[in-house]
Amino acid sequence: MKGCSIMTNKQVGGLIVMFGAAGDLARRKLYPSLFRLYQRQLLSENFALLGNSRREWTDDYFRDIVLESIADQEADEETVNNFIKHFFYTSHDATKAGDYENLKAEMSKLRNEFSTGEKNLYYLSTSPALFPDITQGLKDAGIVTDGGTHRVILEKPFGTDLSSAKELNDALAISFDEKDIYRIDHYLGKEMVQNILATRFFNPVIESLLNQEFVSNIQITLAEDMPIGSRGGYYDKSGAIRDMLQNHILQVATLLGMELPASPSQDDVHTSKLAFLKEINSFTEDQTAKQMVRAQYLASEDGEFINYLAENEVAEDSVTETYLAGYFQVNNDRWGQVPFYFKTGKALDDKRTTVEIVLKDDVDKTDIDRGCNPNQSRITFNIQPETGLAFNLNQKLPGEELLPTMVTIHSNVDELNAAYVPDAYEKLIYDALIGDQTNFSTWEELAEQWRIVDSIIENWQKDGSTSLPTYVGKTRGPKEADELLRQNGHVWVK
Ligand code: BG6
Repeated sequence: MKGCSIMTNKQVGGLIVMFGAAGDLARRKLYPSLFRLYQRQLLSENFALLGNSRREWTDDYFRDIVLESIADQEADEETVNNFIKHFFYTSHDATKAGDYENLKAEMSKLRNEFSTGEKNLYYLSTSPALFPDITQGLKDAGIVTDGGTHRVILEKPFGTDLSSAKELNDALAISFDEKDIYRIDHYLGKEMVQNILATRFFNPVIESLLNQEFVSNIQITLAEDMPIGSRGGYYDKSGAIRDMLQNHILQVATLLGMELPASPSQDDVHTSKLAFLKEINSFTEDQTAKQMVRAQYLASEDGEFINYLAENEVAEDSVTETYLAGYFQVNNDRWGQVPFYFKTGKALDDKRTTVEIVLKDDVDKTDIDRGCNPNQSRITFNIQPETGLAFNLNQKLPGEELLPTMVTIHSNVDELNAAYVPDAYEKLIYDALIGDQTNFSTWEELAEQWRIVDSIIENWQKDGSTSLPTYVGKTRGPKEADELLRQNGHVWVK
């Protein structure tokens, strides 16, 4: 990329309608993110938020909920008091056509009171089953057709397979244009995930390494150290494949593997992403059997985690995977036979997200006996909890002999000058308010992601397994995942 554009973040206002205002996500992530945007003066005084859910709350009660959700933010009292004045509540049943008239009237009041202008953002933080009712309701009441800008943000899951996702997408398309639909994959708001593409753009030397000539394999790890907890009802129908591979892992892999877009503009980025996803073939039965390892967690030895099969709302004979490791290959000249490995799981010994680019070595293996075999060099994107880039390179071990030793050179985003690292939701809500879709998934991308994942699930269904391999809670996962790489002559870096 030639030169560098200096972006000054602009202040933005608008009317936000929060469906599912009483929910966990809104409290944990959305209100704190809005508060930080306000504190950083990116959200102007011309914003208002109309929360709704079926509960009969007053504005004051709702404000107390919001205040509670930002209680741990560092802030002066005046900012908090000013912020909370922008919050209002109306009780609303998303399935009742009549309720949308009231919503419309409340929106109109707030638009006038806060001079929010023409911008309206509908945040659907509800069960996905309600998405079609909500968007249809907004249209039928003439809310999204009265001029102005009307954008909708949706949380995942977006369907449970390609056909249900398509049905949902068709339903949304009745009320919103694709350019106004913001499908959240919150990994795309993470600083170091965004840094994958930035690093490629800003460092031609790194970009020039990203191909089969220099790369041995890619390893994407999204490890989690918590069990399912209260999410059994959702998770048992979803499993790691729908919960993590279908969205986060494939999106992260795409940012790394796609051809460098002609520019960082949203259209160019989406064009490259789609082309990459299309180059991942659907899985055959053979490939599924050979390239995928799924497993379920057992209780941890200290007794803190119980067996997955004993979790609430999990079927006692469930074959839902809580761990998935596997790889795919990309059908193009850049990547040839380079495997893109991934692994993800619940109840593991670590919460860690990394992308490892393992570089090829050109070592004479007969040197191994002399202890002169260098480790494979690699480039690591540490996404969380550490956030930064690391190079693992072979250097000379101090001393008389020529022996290699691995050294790590790393950056830490938190330590960069004047770095404020916004939370993923903070960035994504801001992007939606300013109308930037770069870090959201398009329908075409999602459809490709479902195509790939559906092919694996269909093969699993055909193989009719009645039980899965297991791993003990708080360990690094099943041994089968190590075997998967060993058969290709590779090992997991971590
Ligand atoms: C969500 C999944 O999309 O991502 C959860 O539904 C998972 O199961 C979460 O725990 C992980 O996100 P993060 O940001 O904590 O890595």
